[in-house]
Amino acid sequence: MSERRELLIRAIKHGIVIDHIPSEKVFAIVEILKLKEYSERITVATNMPSSSLGRKGIIKIEEKILEEKELNNISLLAPNVTINIIDNYEVVEKSKLEKLDKVIGLMKCDNPKCISNHENIETKFIRIKEDSENLDKNNLEEKSKYKCFYCEKVILEDEIQIQ
Ligand code: CTP
Ligand code: ZN
Repeated sequence: MSERRELLIRAIKHGIVIDHIPSEKVFAIVEILKLKEYSERITVATNMPSSSLGRKGIIKIEEKILEEKELNNISLLAPNVTINIIDNYEVVEKSKLEKLDKVIGLMKCDNPKCISNHENIETKFIRIKEDSENLDKNNLEEKSKYKCFYCEKVILEDEIQIQ
């Protein structure tokens, strides 16, 4: 089975693999990474079988290095993905992203009256920690909420808009 899967999605030589993406978040990540304008080989897959998620998406990008801002944006949209760095066909680094506690200059506030939509200031959101977080840190289903520092509007994880 897994051999057949590898025939469908080939290994990459050098670059990054974003793995364990919830399928419905794949194209949003394609967009925030501006992959439409990227000229190296890219593989995008959704609805792939996954033992932990049921179904998952994968994005493989040859020759790509992710900048901190890109990693932060990915962690906002899909906090539980795995980032694999590939060199000469080997996984040389594997990391899980962490949710940001403070989000500066990345998210839009959807309150039209918010000062951040009128003045030239960076948006700022504080993540609201759930009580259950301490009990079960690895709960993949857990969703966060983010509160605007300026107007206190609360944005749900699934409603986040990247600037
Ligand atoms: N991968 C790739 N090209 C390579 C090496 C790995 O595209 N040269 C991909 C694999 O297909 C997989 C991901 O990178 O989607 C991580 O590879 P690996 O750690 O070998 O797989 P798993 O052990 O299944 O990863 P995990 O434990 O994170 O699920
Ligand atoms: Zn606001």
